[in-house]
Amino acid sequence: MRKPIIAGNWKMYKTASEAKQFVEQVSGLVPDASKMDSVICAPSLFLPQLVVSAENSPLRIGAQTMHEAVEGAFTGEISPVQLADIGVDYVIIGHSERRQYFNETDDSVNKKVHAAFEHGLTPIVCVGETLAQRQDGNTGSVVEKQVAHALNGLSGQQVEKLVLAYEPIWAIGTGKTATAEDANEVCGIIRGKVADLYSEQTADQLRIQYGGSVKPSNIEELLGMQHIDGALVGGASLEAESFLQLLEAGN
Ligand code: G3P
Repeated sequence: MRKPIIAGNWKMYKTASEAKQFVEQVSGLVPDASKMDSVICAPSLFLPQLVVSAENSPLRIGAQTMHEAVEGAFTGEISPVQLADIGVDYVIIGHSERRQYFNETDDSVNKKVHAAFEHGLTPIVCVGETLAQRQDGNTGSVVEKQVAHALNGLSGQQVEKLVLAYEPIWAIGTGKTATAEDANEVCGIIRGKVADLYSEQTADQLRIQYGGSVKPSNIEELLGMQHIDGALVGGASLEAESFLQLLEAGN
């Protein structure tokens, strides 16, 4: 049995006071961590405050990206050491918006995944196809290639600990959700690839989230699918009430 994991990705939304208020409002209502993992990935500016606000709660705090180096002359960047030092637990790596607007590649994603593990962070690694790739029938080969690159050099034990997020790019923020069957099919392809690269056991342990216009009205159907173990949620994670509804569905 894989433990569900619901993570909010706030992207570049909220002020510091709104973020703090949200976490204070939800932290007492989050399901026990023995049943499911609940995460908020916030803008880096708010992370130290949110880690403190969530201290006595099962709610965990994650970053939305990081640099792979421990330290160095990389203006504007944040290192895995700095994130771990303030008590951040998760980090999203290779979100399609990072790949599209900030030149992240399969290689940089792989380096960051290794760096996350070296410093005790759990990576949430994003993969997904564009609309054109889907229409050309290349969804499976695109995500298999992204997965193989992202995991290159990791041990089976590490793969069992990370989280993979399947986010079809055409479904992000568009209101167009992949059907639960389509999402499940691709998550199954990802699990199959991990079984080929590692073992059935590792593939069985791996948690795969679906992301792309997940909301309280569709999350139950998605989570009911064989290969979908959670959700990575943008828009619907911004309001405390709807975030709690998502958690309830996963619990
Ligand atoms: O990482 C979550 C995301 O890309 C999906 O965003 O707003 O479609 O839930 P949204």
